Amino acid sequence: MKEFFTSDCVQQENKIITSSFVVVSKQVKPKKTGEPYLALTLGDRSGHLEAKMWDNVEEAMDVFEQDDFIKVKGLVNKYKNRFQLTIHKLRRLGESEVDFADYLPKTSKDIGELWRTLAEFVASFKEPHLKALLEAFMADPEIAEAYRNAPAAKTLHHAYIGGLLDHVVSLFRSCDLICRNYPQINRDLLLTGAFLHDIGKIHELTYNRSFSYTTRGQLLGHMIIELEMLHAKIAQVPGFPDDLKILIEHMILSHHGHYEFGSPKLPMFPEALMLHYLDDLDSKMEAMRAQFEREIASDGAWTSYNPSLARPLLNSDKFLEKNARAASGDKVSSPVLAASKIPTAQEEKTATPIPAGTRSEEF
Ligand SMILES: [Fe+2]
Ligand SMILES: [Fe+2]
Repeated sequence: MKEFFTSDCVQQENKIITSSFVVVSKQVKPKKTGEPYLALTLGDRSGHLEAKMWDNVEEAMDVFEQDDFIKVKGLVNKYKNRFQLTIHKLRRLGESEVDFADYLPKTSKDIGELWRTLAEFVASFKEPHLKALLEAFMADPEIAEAYRNAPAAKTLHHAYIGGLLDHVVSLFRSCDLICRNYPQINRDLLLTGAFLHDIGKIHELTYNRSFSYTTRGQLLGHMIIELEMLHAKIAQVPGFPDDLKILIEHMILSHHGHYEFGSPKLPMFPEALMLHYLDDLDSKMEAMRAQFEREIASDGAWTSYNPSLARPLLNSDKFLEKNARAASGDKVSSPVLAASKIPTAQEEKTATPIPAGTRSEEF
């Protein structure tokens, strides 16, 4: 049983921990002296943690590779306002020594229920070809299995097992609501776009041990993979109209909304534009929710820098709660200041260097 998770760093700061992780990335780099050191990203179901190994690297660096499981002993510390682990000892773990569920984050929702919700939406379609198309996707056992398990992204949002399904069900609900306000939107077409817009992730990403890109995903990206999947399934729906096919293809290609985000075309009809905005909204809302959850134990209302949104975030709930407590006379020292503790550029520059770890005998 794994004793320490990356989310426990706050409680374990400046303490020696022993735990196991999956190696998300591994780099061997030279120190100023020319000797090698290890720069790793370690992962478990609660997140990622940067780790460095400075000493006895020669013995350790060839015994494991990326995606292997390792047991490490080291010091939890902070560098440039971020937690990291200074590794003192490590060894590779065999598959029989680990419980896979400890290493990959998974949706807390019931996957079967999410899948049923998806099917209920599809059952409500009026356009017979779009309904038959999505039913063909859902009835394909290989696709269904992968759709229920894939993450929606490697790191940016819904980066957990079941994330793709969770994202699409949430998107379906948003699409359904927005159609009530804009009756000119073709609901079945919009929902078809939502169902298919990220389906290529099932082939773009690997998610057995850690989340990363397949070679095909890296070289082609999910949109191109989706067009291929779409064409294969349309071939199974007799008489599928060409006009509908072109609209779906455009929704897939334009859903990132901007050339610089990988869309070769900008959304050019209402359902395509709507899909782009709702997709963007859903991914950003989830990125915020996940960051607040990760930092639930921290005092301040400001989170650390969020790389996917390129800004620190304000947890408005915590912010209002602190101010309300202060107003009601609770002893909160400088609530606004405490809540506003964002790391400044100067603080980042002058952050404490990595403390030399204390060695301990047992491993
Ligand atoms: Fe996408
Ligand atoms: Fe998406």
